[in-house]
Amino acid sequence: MSQRVRGVIAREKGKPVEVTTIVVPDPGPGEAVVKVQACGVCHTDLHYREGGINDEFPFLLGHEAAGVVESVGDGVTDVAPGDFVVLNWRAVCGNCRACNKGKPWYCFATHNAKQRMTLEDGTELSPALGIGAFVEKTLVHAGQCTKVDPSARAAAVGLLGCGVMAGLGAAINTGGVTRGDSVAVIGCGGVGDGAVAGAALAGATTIIAIDTDDRKLEWARGFGATHTINARETDVVKAVQDLTGGFGADVVVEAVGRPETYRQAFYARDLAGTVVLVGVPTPEMTIELPLLDVFGRGGALKSSWYGDCLPSRDFPMLVELYKQGRLDLDAFVTEEIALDEVEQAFGKMHTGDVLRSVVIF
Ligand SMILES: NC(=O)c1ccc[n+]([C@@H]2O[C@H](COP(=O)([O-])OP(=O)(O)OC[C@H]3O[C@@H](n4cnc5c(N)ncnc54)[C@H](O)[C@@H]3O)[C@@H](O)[C@H]2O)c1
Ligand SMILES: [Zn+2]
Ligand SMILES: [Zn+2]
Repeated sequence: MSQRVRGVIAREKGKPVEVTTIVVPDPGPGEAVVKVQACGVCHTDLHYREGGINDEFPFLLGHEAAGVVESVGDGVTDVAPGDFVVLNWRAVCGNCRACNKGKPWYCFATHNAKQRMTLEDGTELSPALGIGAFVEKTLVHAGQCTKVDPSARAAAVGLLGCGVMAGLGAAINTGGVTRGDSVAVIGCGGVGDGAVAGAALAGATTIIAIDTDDRKLEWARGFGATHTINARETDVVKAVQDLTGGFGADVVVEAVGRPETYRQAFYARDLAGTVVLVGVPTPEMTIELPLLDVFGRGGALKSSWYGDCLPSRDFPMLVELYKQGRLDLDAFVTEEIALDEVEQAFGKMHTGDVLRSVVIF
Protein backbone atom coordinates (compact mmCIF):
# COMPACT_ATOMS: atom_id res chain seq x y z
CA MET A 1 0.00 0.00 0.00
CA SER A 2 1.08 3.57 -0.59
CA GLN A 3 -0.43 7.04 -0.53
CA ARG A 4 -0.47 9.80 -3.14
CA VAL A 5 0.12 13.31 -1.84
CA ARG A 6 1.33 16.68 -3.13
CA GLY A 7 4.95 17.75 -2.80
CA VAL A 8 7.62 20.08 -4.21
CA ILE A 9 10.45 18.68 -6.32
CA ALA A 10 13.50 20.07 -8.10
CA ARG A 11 13.49 18.04 -11.30
CA GLU A 12 16.51 19.58 -13.03
CA LYS A 13 19.50 21.66 -12.05
CA GLY A 14 18.71 25.38 -11.91
CA LYS A 15 15.10 24.98 -13.07
CA PRO A 16 12.15 26.32 -11.04
CA VAL A 17 10.72 23.85 -8.56
CA GLU A 18 7.32 22.26 -9.23
CA VAL A 19 4.42 20.85 -7.24
CA THR A 20 3.61 17.30 -8.24
CA THR A 21 2.19 14.02 -6.98
CA ILE A 22 4.46 12.06 -4.64
CA VAL A 23 3.96 8.39 -3.86
CA VAL A 24 4.65 7.66 -0.18
CA PRO A 25 5.08 4.00 0.78
CA ASP A 26 3.73 2.62 4.03
CA PRO A 27 6.43 2.62 6.70
CA GLY A 28 8.66 -0.44 6.73
CA PRO A 29 10.65 -1.69 9.74
CA GLY A 30 12.12 1.26 11.66
CA GLU A 31 10.30 3.83 9.52
CA ALA A 32 7.51 6.34 10.13
CA VAL A 33 5.11 8.35 7.97
CA VAL A 34 4.65 11.89 9.25
CA LYS A 35 1.82 14.25 8.37
CA VAL A 36 3.76 17.47 7.86
CA GLN A 37 2.23 20.58 9.45
CA ALA A 38 4.93 23.15 8.66
CA CYS A 39 8.24 23.24 6.79
CA GLY A 40 10.64 26.19 6.52
CA VAL A 41 12.46 27.21 3.32
CA CYS A 42 16.21 26.94 4.01
CA HIS A 43 19.05 28.17 1.81
CA THR A 44 20.21 24.55 1.59
CA ASP A 45 17.04 23.73 -0.41
CA LEU A 46 18.19 26.31 -2.93
CA HIS A 47 21.71 24.79 -2.91
CA TYR A 48 20.08 21.46 -3.84
CA ARG A 49 18.12 23.03 -6.69
CA GLU A 50 21.29 24.70 -8.00
CA GLY A 51 23.10 21.33 -8.03
CA GLY A 52 25.44 22.63 -5.32
CA ILE A 53 25.06 19.59 -3.05
CA ASN A 54 25.05 16.71 -5.54
CA ASP A 55 23.57 15.65 -8.88
CA GLU A 56 21.02 13.15 -7.64
CA PHE A 57 17.99 14.85 -9.23
CA PRO A 58 15.03 14.82 -8.85
CA PHE A 59 15.08 16.07 -5.25
CA LEU A 60 12.12 16.17 -2.91
CA LEU A 61 12.91 19.46 -1.19
CA GLY A 62 12.16 20.72 2.33
CA HIS A 63 13.75 19.59 5.59
CA GLU A 64 12.92 22.04 8.43
CA ALA A 65 9.66 20.54 9.54
CA ALA A 66 7.28 19.65 12.31
CA GLY A 67 4.26 17.40 12.13
CA VAL A 68 2.36 14.49 13.60
CA VAL A 69 3.31 10.84 13.25
CA GLU A 70 0.64 9.06 11.21
CA SER A 71 1.92 5.49 11.19
CA VAL A 72 5.02 3.54 12.16
CA GLY A 73 6.60 0.35 10.90
CA ASP A 74 7.66 -2.79 12.75
CA GLY A 75 10.01 -2.39 15.66
CA VAL A 76 9.39 1.32 16.22
CA THR A 77 9.04 2.02 19.93
CA ASP A 78 10.30 5.58 20.49
CA VAL A 79 7.44 7.29 18.64
CA ALA A 80 3.82 6.35 18.04
CA PRO A 81 0.97 7.60 15.85
CA GLY A 82 -0.30 10.94 17.17
CA ASP A 83 3.06 12.14 18.52
CA PHE A 84 4.03 15.74 17.65
CA VAL A 85 7.59 15.70 16.31
CA VAL A 86 10.28 17.90 14.83
CA LEU A 87 12.10 16.10 12.02
CA ASN A 88 15.88 15.84 12.25
CA TRP A 89 18.63 14.84 9.85
CA ARG A 90 20.76 13.27 12.55
CA ALA A 91 19.18 9.97 13.57
CA VAL A 92 22.26 8.65 15.33
CA CYS A 93 23.31 5.03 14.79
CA GLY A 94 24.83 4.40 18.21
CA ASN A 95 27.43 2.17 16.63
CA CYS A 96 29.87 4.07 14.39
CA ARG A 97 33.32 5.26 15.46
CA ALA A 98 31.96 8.67 16.56
CA CYS A 99 29.08 7.14 18.53
CA ASN A 100 31.47 4.65 20.10
CA LYS A 101 33.69 7.52 21.23
CA GLY A 102 30.71 9.06 23.02
CA LYS A 103 30.34 11.87 20.48
CA PRO A 104 27.09 10.95 18.74
CA TRP A 105 26.62 14.49 17.40
CA TYR A 106 29.35 13.59 14.90
CA CYS A 107 27.61 10.29 13.97
CA PHE A 108 28.93 9.16 10.58
CA ALA A 109 26.20 6.60 9.86
CA THR A 110 22.92 8.41 10.56
CA HIS A 111 19.70 6.62 9.68
CA ASN A 112 17.35 7.54 6.84
CA ALA A 113 14.28 5.67 5.57
CA LYS A 114 15.32 2.61 3.53
CA GLN A 115 12.38 2.84 1.13
CA ARG A 116 12.19 5.70 -1.35
CA MET A 117 9.33 8.05 -2.07
CA THR A 118 8.75 8.21 -5.84
CA LEU A 119 7.01 10.07 -8.63
CA GLU A 120 3.91 8.39 -10.09
CA ASP A 121 6.02 6.85 -12.88
CA GLY A 122 8.20 5.15 -10.26
CA THR A 123 11.17 7.56 -10.49
CA GLU A 124 12.90 7.51 -7.11
CA LEU A 125 13.27 10.85 -5.34
CA SER A 126 16.29 12.03 -3.36
CA PRO A 127 14.89 13.61 -0.21
CA ALA A 128 16.75 16.78 0.83
CA LEU A 129 19.00 15.96 3.78
CA GLY A 130 17.34 12.54 3.93
CA ILE A 131 14.01 14.13 4.88
CA GLY A 132 12.02 15.75 2.04
CA ALA A 133 9.23 17.65 3.79
CA PHE A 134 7.66 20.06 1.28
CA VAL A 135 5.07 17.32 1.02
CA GLU A 136 1.80 16.60 2.79
CA LYS A 137 3.16 13.35 4.21
CA THR A 138 6.74 12.16 4.30
CA LEU A 139 8.47 8.85 4.95
CA VAL A 140 11.43 9.03 7.33
CA HIS A 141 13.40 6.82 9.66
CA ALA A 142 11.67 6.79 13.06
CA GLY A 143 14.89 8.11 14.61
CA GLN A 144 14.43 11.26 12.53
CA CYS A 145 11.31 12.06 14.58
CA THR A 146 12.06 13.95 17.79
CA LYS A 147 9.09 14.27 20.16
CA VAL A 148 8.54 17.75 21.54
CA ASP A 149 5.84 19.58 23.53
CA PRO A 150 2.68 19.29 21.38
CA SER A 151 1.39 22.70 22.45
CA ALA A 152 4.22 24.45 20.55
CA ARG A 153 3.55 26.20 17.22
CA ALA A 154 4.63 23.91 14.36
CA ALA A 155 5.86 26.73 12.09
CA ALA A 156 8.20 27.99 14.81
CA VAL A 157 9.58 24.78 16.30
CA GLY A 158 9.97 23.10 12.90
CA LEU A 159 12.81 25.57 12.26
CA LEU A 160 14.83 23.78 14.93
CA GLY A 161 14.98 20.92 12.43
CA CYS A 162 17.73 22.70 10.48
CA GLY A 163 18.68 26.36 10.16
CA VAL A 164 18.02 27.75 13.61
CA MET A 165 19.55 24.68 15.28
CA ALA A 166 22.56 24.84 12.96
CA GLY A 167 23.25 28.48 13.84
CA LEU A 168 22.44 28.23 17.52
CA GLY A 169 24.56 25.11 17.88
CA ALA A 170 27.40 26.62 15.82
CA ALA A 171 27.69 29.30 18.52
CA ILE A 172 27.05 27.21 21.63
CA ASN A 173 28.10 23.65 20.79
CA THR A 174 30.84 24.13 18.18
CA GLY A 175 32.09 27.58 19.17
CA GLY A 176 31.67 26.98 22.88
CA VAL A 177 30.36 30.52 23.43
CA THR A 178 29.98 31.24 27.11
CA ARG A 179 29.27 34.09 29.57
CA GLY A 180 31.22 37.26 28.84
CA ASP A 181 32.40 36.24 25.38
CA SER A 182 32.53 38.53 22.37
CA VAL A 183 30.94 36.97 19.31
CA ALA A 184 30.70 38.13 15.70
CA VAL A 185 28.24 36.54 13.27
CA ILE A 186 28.76 37.07 9.53
CA GLY A 187 25.53 36.60 7.55
CA CYS A 188 22.29 37.09 9.45
CA GLY A 189 19.76 34.89 7.70
CA GLY A 190 17.93 32.17 9.61
CA VAL A 191 21.20 30.40 10.39
CA GLY A 192 23.16 33.50 11.42
CA ASP A 193 20.34 34.79 13.59
CA GLY A 194 20.20 31.36 15.20
CA ALA A 195 23.85 31.96 16.14
CA VAL A 196 23.02 35.44 17.46
CA ALA A 197 20.18 34.00 19.57
CA GLY A 198 22.47 31.20 20.79
CA ALA A 199 25.22 33.64 21.78
CA ALA A 200 22.65 35.68 23.71
CA LEU A 201 21.31 32.55 25.48
CA ALA A 202 24.86 31.55 26.43
CA GLY A 203 25.59 34.94 28.00
CA ALA A 204 27.89 36.58 25.45
CA THR A 205 28.23 40.27 26.32
CA THR A 206 29.25 41.60 22.90
CA ILE A 207 27.32 40.20 19.94
CA ILE A 208 28.19 41.77 16.60
CA ALA A 209 25.85 41.05 13.70
CA ILE A 210 27.25 41.53 10.19
CA ASP A 211 25.26 41.50 6.97
CA THR A 212 25.01 43.42 3.70
CA ASP A 213 21.33 44.17 4.27
CA ASP A 214 20.10 46.68 6.86
CA ARG A 215 16.79 44.86 7.35
CA LYS A 216 18.70 41.72 8.37
CA LEU A 217 20.72 43.77 10.83
CA GLU A 218 17.55 45.19 12.36
CA TRP A 219 16.16 41.66 12.82
CA ALA A 220 19.47 40.51 14.33
CA ARG A 221 19.12 43.19 17.02
CA GLY A 222 15.81 41.60 17.97
CA PHE A 223 17.62 38.30 18.60
CA GLY A 224 20.20 39.93 20.87
CA ALA A 225 22.86 41.58 18.71
CA THR A 226 24.47 44.41 20.66
CA HIS A 227 26.16 45.93 17.60
CA THR A 228 25.65 45.73 13.85
CA ILE A 229 27.94 46.22 10.86
CA ASN A 230 26.81 46.68 7.26
CA ALA A 231 29.52 44.83 5.29
CA ARG A 232 28.76 46.85 2.15
CA GLU A 233 29.82 50.09 3.78
CA THR A 234 32.40 49.08 6.34
CA ASP A 235 35.68 47.17 6.64
CA VAL A 236 34.36 44.21 8.61
CA VAL A 237 37.64 43.14 10.22
CA LYS A 238 38.49 46.63 11.40
CA ALA A 239 34.95 47.28 12.65
CA VAL A 240 34.94 44.06 14.71
CA GLN A 241 38.35 44.95 16.15
CA ASP A 242 37.13 48.46 17.01
CA LEU A 243 34.18 46.99 18.92
CA THR A 244 36.38 44.55 20.85
CA GLY A 245 39.10 46.76 22.26
CA GLY A 246 41.19 46.44 19.10
CA PHE A 247 41.56 42.67 19.47
CA GLY A 248 38.83 40.83 17.54
CA ALA A 249 36.04 38.54 18.74
CA ASP A 250 36.49 35.41 20.84
CA VAL A 251 34.25 33.48 18.46
CA VAL A 252 33.35 34.36 14.86
CA VAL A 253 30.55 32.41 13.19
CA GLU A 254 30.61 32.46 9.37
CA ALA A 255 27.03 31.81 8.21
CA VAL A 256 27.36 32.73 4.53
CA GLY A 257 29.70 30.08 3.11
CA ARG A 258 31.98 32.13 0.84
CA PRO A 259 35.77 32.55 0.71
CA GLU A 260 35.65 36.32 1.26
CA THR A 261 33.46 36.06 4.34
CA TYR A 262 35.55 33.18 5.68
CA ARG A 263 38.65 35.36 5.28
CA GLN A 264 36.90 38.12 7.26
CA ALA A 265 36.01 35.59 9.96
CA PHE A 266 39.61 34.39 10.08
CA TYR A 267 41.00 37.89 10.67
CA ALA A 268 38.12 39.27 12.78
CA ARG A 269 38.75 36.86 15.68
CA ASP A 270 41.08 37.51 18.57
CA LEU A 271 44.36 35.63 18.98
CA ALA A 272 43.53 32.10 20.18
CA GLY A 273 39.92 32.71 19.15
CA THR A 274 37.64 30.34 17.30
CA VAL A 275 36.21 30.51 13.78
CA VAL A 276 33.12 28.41 13.11
CA LEU A 277 32.14 27.83 9.49
CA VAL A 278 28.44 26.92 9.34
CA GLY A 279 27.67 28.45 5.91
CA VAL A 280 27.95 25.84 3.15
CA PRO A 281 30.40 26.60 0.31
CA THR A 282 29.93 25.28 -3.23
CA PRO A 283 32.37 22.78 -4.79
CA GLU A 284 34.40 25.26 -6.85
CA MET A 285 35.24 27.59 -3.93
CA THR A 286 38.82 27.70 -2.62
CA ILE A 287 40.69 29.87 -0.15
CA GLU A 288 44.35 30.79 0.29
CA LEU A 289 45.67 32.01 3.65
CA PRO A 290 49.23 32.69 4.83
CA LEU A 291 50.17 29.54 6.73
CA LEU A 292 52.09 31.69 9.18
CA ASP A 293 48.83 33.45 10.09
CA VAL A 294 47.06 30.11 10.54
CA PHE A 295 49.84 29.14 12.94
CA GLY A 296 50.54 32.48 14.52
CA ARG A 297 46.95 33.40 15.38
CA GLY A 298 46.46 30.14 17.25
CA GLY A 299 43.01 29.09 18.35
CA ALA A 300 40.69 26.89 16.38
CA LEU A 301 39.24 26.78 12.87
CA LYS A 302 36.13 24.61 13.08
CA SER A 303 33.23 23.59 10.88
CA SER A 304 29.78 22.96 12.21
CA TRP A 305 27.48 20.39 10.71
CA TYR A 306 23.99 20.99 12.05
CA GLY A 307 25.37 22.91 15.00
CA ASP A 308 26.87 19.70 16.42
CA CYS A 309 23.42 19.11 17.83
CA LEU A 310 21.97 15.98 19.36
CA PRO A 311 18.28 16.26 18.46
CA SER A 312 17.01 14.13 21.35
CA ARG A 313 18.90 16.34 23.80
CA ASP A 314 18.57 19.75 22.14
CA PHE A 315 15.11 19.96 20.50
CA PRO A 316 12.96 19.38 23.62
CA MET A 317 15.23 21.71 25.63
CA LEU A 318 15.01 24.51 23.05
CA VAL A 319 11.23 24.08 22.72
CA GLU A 320 11.04 24.48 26.49
CA LEU A 321 13.07 27.73 26.30
CA TYR A 322 10.76 28.87 23.49
CA LYS A 323 7.70 28.18 25.61
CA GLN A 324 9.24 30.09 28.51
CA GLY A 325 9.73 33.10 26.23
CA ARG A 326 13.54 32.89 26.33
CA LEU A 327 14.09 31.88 22.68
CA ASP A 328 11.92 33.77 20.22
CA LEU A 329 11.42 31.18 17.49
CA ASP A 330 8.31 33.03 16.26
CA ALA A 331 10.50 35.94 15.18
CA PHE A 332 12.24 33.69 12.62
CA VAL A 333 8.92 33.12 10.82
CA THR A 334 8.56 36.08 8.47
CA GLU A 335 5.66 34.61 6.52
CA GLU A 336 3.52 31.52 6.23
CA ILE A 337 3.07 30.36 2.64
CA ALA A 338 1.34 27.64 0.63
CA LEU A 339 3.08 24.64 -0.93
CA ASP A 340 3.01 26.19 -4.41
CA GLU A 341 4.87 29.31 -3.23
CA VAL A 342 8.30 27.76 -2.57
CA GLU A 343 9.78 29.14 -5.80
CA GLN A 344 8.70 32.68 -4.84
CA ALA A 345 10.18 32.10 -1.39
CA PHE A 346 13.58 31.39 -3.00
CA GLY A 347 13.26 34.75 -4.74
CA LYS A 348 12.49 36.52 -1.48
CA MET A 349 15.51 34.83 0.09
CA HIS A 350 17.68 36.46 -2.58
CA THR A 351 16.19 39.91 -2.19
CA GLY A 352 16.46 39.66 1.60
CA ASP A 353 12.73 40.07 2.19
CA VAL A 354 12.46 37.15 4.58
CA LEU A 355 14.26 35.42 7.39
CA ARG A 356 12.19 32.30 6.92
CA SER A 357 9.19 31.57 4.74
CA VAL A 358 7.37 28.59 6.22
CA VAL A 359 5.07 26.34 4.20
CA ILE A 360 1.92 25.56 6.16
CA PHE A 361 -0.15 22.48 5.35
N1 LIG B 1 26.16 23.73 8.50
C1 LIG B 1 24.88 23.39 8.53
O1 LIG B 1 24.53 22.38 9.14
C2 LIG B 1 23.87 24.26 7.84
C3 LIG B 1 22.50 24.09 8.07
C4 LIG B 1 21.59 24.93 7.42
C5 LIG B 1 22.05 25.88 6.54
N2 LIG B 1 23.40 26.02 6.32
C6 LIG B 1 23.95 27.03 5.42
O2 LIG B 1 24.06 28.26 6.11
C7 LIG B 1 24.06 29.33 5.15
C8 LIG B 1 23.02 30.37 5.53
O3 LIG B 1 21.72 29.81 5.43
P1 LIG B 1 20.42 30.71 5.62
O4 LIG B 1 19.26 29.82 5.45
O5 LIG B 1 20.56 31.54 6.84
O6 LIG B 1 20.57 31.64 4.33
P2 LIG B 1 20.00 33.11 4.04
O7 LIG B 1 20.10 33.29 2.58
O8 LIG B 1 18.69 33.28 4.74
O9 LIG B 1 21.04 34.07 4.81
C9 LIG B 1 22.31 34.41 4.32
C10 LIG B 1 22.61 35.83 4.80
O10 LIG B 1 23.94 36.19 4.42
C11 LIG B 1 23.93 37.54 4.01
N3 LIG B 1 25.12 37.78 3.17
C12 LIG B 1 25.32 37.44 1.88
N4 LIG B 1 26.55 37.85 1.48
C13 LIG B 1 27.12 38.45 2.55
C14 LIG B 1 28.38 39.08 2.76
N5 LIG B 1 29.29 39.15 1.79
N6 LIG B 1 28.64 39.58 3.99
C15 LIG B 1 27.72 39.53 4.98
N7 LIG B 1 26.50 38.93 4.83
C16 LIG B 1 26.22 38.42 3.63
C17 LIG B 1 22.62 37.70 3.30
O11 LIG B 1 22.23 39.06 3.21
C18 LIG B 1 21.68 36.88 4.18
O12 LIG B 1 21.10 37.66 5.20
C19 LIG B 1 23.79 28.66 3.80
O13 LIG B 1 25.04 28.45 3.15
C20 LIG B 1 23.16 27.35 4.18
O14 LIG B 1 23.31 26.36 3.19
C21 LIG B 1 24.29 25.24 6.97
ZN1 LIG C 1 26.90 6.76 14.79
ZN1 LIG D 1 18.49 23.61 6.16
